Amino acid sequence: MLSTRLTKYLGIEHPIISAPMAFASGGKLASAVTNAGGLGLIGGGYGDEIWLQEQFDEAGNTVVGCGLITWALDKNPDCLDLVLSKKPKAIFLSFGDPAIHAKKIKSHNIPLICQIQTLKDAKHAVDIGADIVVAQGAEAGGHGEKRATFTLVPEVADYLATHAPNVLLVAAGGVADGRGLAAGLMLGADGVLVGSRFWAASEALVHPNMWQAGIKATGDDTLRATFADVARDRDWPERYSINLISNEFSDRWHNDEAALAANEKAKQSWRQANLDGDTSIANAFVGEAIGQISSIETAVDIITNMMQEAEILLRNKW
Ligand SMILES: Cc1cc2nc3c(=O)[nH]c(=O)nc-3n(C[C@H](O)[C@H](O)[C@H](O)COP(=O)(O)O)c2cc1C
Repeated sequence: MLSTRLTKYLGIEHPIISAPMAFASGGKLASAVTNAGGLGLIGGGYGDEIWLQEQFDEAGNTVVGCGLITWALDKNPDCLDLVLSKKPKAIFLSFGDPAIHAKKIKSHNIPLICQIQTLKDAKHAVDIGADIVVAQGAEAGGHGEKRATFTLVPEVADYLATHAPNVLLVAAGGVADGRGLAAGLMLGADGVLVGSRFWAASEALVHPNMWQAGIKATGDDTLRATFADVARDRDWPERYSINLISNEFSDRWHNDEAALAANEKAKQSWRQANLDGDTSIANAFVGEAIGQISSIETAVDIITNMMQEAEILLRNKW
């Protein structure tokens, strides 16, 4: 048992939250994580309400939270009403300004988790009433920015300790085993948010070919890039890029985004490959921690192993 402020606040057994990974974190994964003693989040991503409804149905009576991409929510604010109607354990906002949605979430007495990439954004998250701040380093899978987990987490921890001691801190980016969990706690976090490791959980919604590419990859094979958003016609704010596994498509189009934007055939080939699981063209959106992942495991096994390893490290090593 590792009891932290996060486990007490959320009423969970282990200080582990699964990331709300768009398209990959459905109700099955989120409920498996909650049932294993963590908090599972559905990856509401860009706010497809039909998909969200299906995933909450899939989670059934298990209490889960839900994440939404903030700038996409700005364009489709009604989606928040659907999520609120499901009475989630927490709502997680990332990538954009959470201010306009915070009041509504808090008026429903639902904990607000804000994922941030800079100290400046952490301060803003505190100002708009975040209950939990997730400090995400650049090692993370999916979208992110440039600060490293190892320096961002303690810097935010120091800020919170002085200015907002009741706001909890969660570390994200590169945590895939008990070493990462123990390190996150040692850096001052109250728990960890885990994405790539749960992307490789058997309950995740991931094409098996993508899993195979992930298992083969090392951290060296990952790349922070923007071409994949161009290929998908996703209008992401400039400051964010995606961590992904490089392949022939990235060899060709990384740093040539303007040409890709004008090439409908190439963009379409990426989208089709993503559906078909053709990993020479479509990229798996995972982070550097992929180099520590060598098998697809159930969420309960991932959490059990992570907890056992972290407890041994924290109790016996020093
Ligand atoms: C496949 C994938 C999709 C992701 N999609 C989202 C998303 O839709 N919204 C979000 O806030 N974060 C998303 N993330 C980022 C996670 O919230 C988290 O910061 C990250 O996974 C932590 O780093 P790790 O992958 O090293 O564990 C995604 C991550 C992955 C791996």
